[in-house]
Amino acid sequence: MKTLSSVKEMQEFAEDSRLSGKTIALVPTMGFLHQGHLELMEEGKKRADILIISIFVNPTQFGVGEDLEKYPRDMERDKKLAEGVGVDIIFAPSASEMYPKGYQTYVNVKDVTRNLCGISRPTHFRGVTTVVAKLFNIVKPHIAIFGEKDFQQLVTIRQMVKDLNFDIEIVGIPTVREKDGLAMSSRNTYLTPEERKAALSLNQAISIARDIFRSGERRSESILREVKKRIESEDLTDIDYVKMCDSQTLEDIEEIDRGAVLAIAVKVGRTRLIDNCTFERGE
Ligand code: PAJ
Repeated sequence: MKTLSSVKEMQEFAEDSRLSGKTIALVPTMGFLHQGHLELMEEGKKRADILIISIFVNPTQFGVGEDLEKYPRDMERDKKLAEGVGVDIIFAPSASEMYPKGYQTYVNVKDVTRNLCGISRPTHFRGVTTVVAKLFNIVKPHIAIFGEKDFQQLVTIRQMVKDLNFDIEIVGIPTVREKDGLAMSSRNTYLTPEERKAALSLNQAISIARDIFRSGERRSESILREVKKRIESEDLTDIDYVKMCDSQTLEDIEEIDRGAVLAIAVKVGRTRLIDNCTFERGE
């Protein structure tokens, strides 16, 4: 396994690989790897000849006052974990390599970034799509793998790929959870033991929603009420949003009469966590 930090070197490696007939899978990450990341990599390993991951804490997707500086980093540990799943190349550029002085181009996906996290993090998705578009041009993958945990991010990237004609297959992987149900996230490391316990309410609220749906309820309001009740029963939680949306347009829906996503964002102490679950019509 090799680590590259220069855009030019990465592009040359990608070009050579393509010329020799090899397929490339890319897993973009911000590092501090956990089992969720590793499952994306295992999928990439299966689907392509060469597996490349990026580790880059992307400044353009963090808003003012967000956790850019304190975002957890541990490159040595990440290298060991990546090696363990058979990663061929880690692309780990510096911020100035990705955004040199004079940088001025951004990718903005409109409608699907307006709701949910787009409301409280208005510049976030612009940063995500910009860096992912750059990574696509640098790593030249045939396939790129993302987690459903960041559901709006996945929908946004699919839209960008469609609109900008990237010739790349986008694969989504179901959320990987801790044994007790907490969705894995690099940010879980911020949680105190009490907050960690309160954070379980997100997944528990999702289970409640699933049960209500299974009993035949289709009105969003009735489901959302119970979801909020469970999360609000914890002292350390502060809901940003709990919404039922069309799983393609991400617009709010009053009734689950099509593919839907229950999307949740909650501050637990000072840490903002997100989780979601989807409902299919015929379920
Ligand atoms: P990061 O939060 O490091 O996540 C990297 C990838 O891992 C994303 O596709 C995310 O959805 C996926 N992932 C995270 N936790 C997961 C879990 N518990 N189960 C399954 N997949 C999970 O998302 C980003 O970085 C950045 O926005 C990035 C796409 C790299 C652009 O900077």
